[in-house]
Amino acid sequence: MSIKKVVVAGGGVLGSQIAFQAAYCGFDVTIWLRSQGSIGRTQPKLASIKKAYLDTIAKMDTPEGKSPAIFAMGIANPDTFNADDCRKKVEAAANAIKLEIDLGKAVSDADLVIESMAEEKKSKKEFYKTLAPLLPAKTILVTNSSTMLPSAFAKFTGRPDKYLALHFANEIWKNNTAEIMGQDKTAKENYDAIVAFASDIRMVPLQLHKEKSGYILNSMLIPFLFAGLDLYATGVSDPETIDKTWVLGTGAHAGPFRIIDVIGLTTTYNIVLMYVKIPGCIAPYHFKAMAKILKQYLDAGKLGLSAGEGFYKYKK
Ligand SMILES: NC(=O)c1ccc[n+]([C@@H]2O[C@H](COP(=O)([O-])OP(=O)(O)OC[C@H]3O[C@@H](n4cnc5c(N)ncnc54)[C@H](O)[C@@H]3O)[C@@H](O)[C@H]2O)c1
Repeated sequence: MSIKKVVVAGGGVLGSQIAFQAAYCGFDVTIWLRSQGSIGRTQPKLASIKKAYLDTIAKMDTPEGKSPAIFAMGIANPDTFNADDCRKKVEAAANAIKLEIDLGKAVSDADLVIESMAEEKKSKKEFYKTLAPLLPAKTILVTNSSTMLPSAFAKFTGRPDKYLALHFANEIWKNNTAEIMGQDKTAKENYDAIVAFASDIRMVPLQLHKEKSGYILNSMLIPFLFAGLDLYATGVSDPETIDKTWVLGTGAHAGPFRIIDVIGLTTTYNIVLMYVKIPGCIAPYHFKAMAKILKQYLDAGKLGLSAGEGFYKYKK
């Protein structure tokens, strides 16, 4: 099927980015939000994403801009890059995204709904149950959940053959991975439609052949972040030194705490809490101590890059 109308459910860190990227690539995009208050929280996120695109384009439009560390493949291809065209697409995207709190109205003609709500099983399940009778028969439904399997929700969607996972990375204009993972009822044609859609919004489709909690990326990333947090929580070292050790020792561009700031401390805290709650968890990390430290940062309003401060301070 040809996807034109896209609805993103949830306008948080990732939902706003997915919406912006799809609008940047010319799709008709609506973000569904649960309340007027959520609209007030999503608008500044969209404004800062627009600024991030424009700042990235400005950096790409310099003599060193084609280096892989600077050039954002979600924005353009190096050989056809034209900064003015990209800026026009950014303006058009920012003006075109619709925000809607009436779910039925938002999805009434949707070809694709991308669920990117908070990582809470109960909320997602309730959302799918409410959504199922409102969706047109044609609509493909995907989840951007980082830690939950689509098979856990398929039966609540009313369309298991049209339900799968499409998982993005944070800062999707730069980190343009799209992990695509079906469950046993997903029809191949719908899986393939999502592979094509991912390419159409300038992502690199990465196909999983079976369900795996954490997909490919987080299966590697999460133990890495836990290892960093554990070193801090047990007093072995501090965030700056831990990050510096990783960057100097491997040539990577960021260490675990810089990455957590980008992901957001709330999401990280929720993941750590899941492990705190596993009875007799044998993973070799001090999850309670890690949760305590993250909670102290959250209580101080240090939510990460999007809030201007997390483990590090950022210029607004
Ligand atoms: N942050 C990341 O780096 C990242 C990366 C990839 C995938 N994800 C996934 O994307 C999803 C969203 O994560 P995020 O970081 O954007 O979270 P977030 O906390 O920034 O945003 C969550 C959004 O969901 C909305 N929401 C929460 N509960 C709701 C409910 N009951 N009904 C309707 N809306 C509700 C909030 O208002 C907000 O708009 C999660 O499933 C997460 O696992 C996050």
